[in-house]
Amino acid sequence: MAKRPLVARTVSSLRHALEPCRNSGGRIALVPTMGALHRGHLALVSEARRRAKFVVVSIFVNPTQFAPNEDYGSYPRRFETDIAELVKAKVDLMWAPSPAVMYPKGFATRIAPQGAALAGLEDKFRPHFFGGVATVVAKLFTQISPDVALFGQKDYQQLRVVTQMAKDLDLAVKVIGLATVREKDGLALSSRNVYLSALERNHAPALYRTLKTCAARIKAREPIEMVLEEGRRDITRAEFAVDYLEARHALTLAPVTSVKDGPIRLLVAAKIGKTRLIDNLAV
Ligand code: PAJ
Repeated sequence: MAKRPLVARTVSSLRHALEPCRNSGGRIALVPTMGALHRGHLALVSEARRRAKFVVVSIFVNPTQFAPNEDYGSYPRRFETDIAELVKAKVDLMWAPSPAVMYPKGFATRIAPQGAALAGLEDKFRPHFFGGVATVVAKLFTQISPDVALFGQKDYQQLRVVTQMAKDLDLAVKVIGLATVREKDGLALSSRNVYLSALERNHAPALYRTLKTCAARIKAREPIEMVLEEGRRDITRAEFAVDYLEARHALTLAPVTSVKDGPIRLLVAAKIGKTRLIDNLAV
């Protein structure tokens, strides 16, 4: 039987569990998650396994990245199933702090990312979000001091924000972004997909389908704003309310008007029923 990974729940037990690896000079990889693990998370874990001797997965539903009207309370929590998946994936250590351990009474420091965090995409609809993400990820990086940390391109703006934050704070961690894992029909795996009704689930692949169509048309030099306008219409026809569908510079997330402006990334966020989904694609 595969051995159960250690579960650390306090900062001191985390440090203690990391000591043998650090003393032996082994590389440490971190995969930060909020649990409810799916194949997208597990792809990050297997890449971590490939890159380091010691693999840590954090499971922490981070309250500071949810606004009061968002789904913090109802966010799926599947701790036992997650542990079973991580045993199979041969993870060495799970870091599962409570909110009181992560944010003890009197906690008073917050990272305020700028640049890509103010691109007018997710930040426009979830203004609290990247401050919460950057703060918790900065804490995870300092708690664990990983050599590498793996993130999904699924949350593309988050990946840009975290990469810049690690660089700006001189953290000795290499941030790696991995391709989005999708269902057969193209829907990006997400812990929030469980919220979709059967009907909404049928409509949901429209997001990726539209991204692909838009990317092909932009590559073929059709005018970007016209392509995006039609893309927004297609997504709306599939019963979504569009928050944004934008073409941005793939690194800075600055607006682009032509393929000459640099590598382009298309980013979309839209709500179907009560569920908000995001996706993105390279042009
Ligand atoms: P969570 O949504 O659980 O995602 C954890 C990691 O899995 C992120 O890096 C995310 O981009 C990646 N991921 C999610 N779906 C994916 C998919 N379909 N394919 C590939 N990777 C995927 O993102 C967060 O948690 C939090 O904001 C966190 C970074 C943990 C900070 O709280």
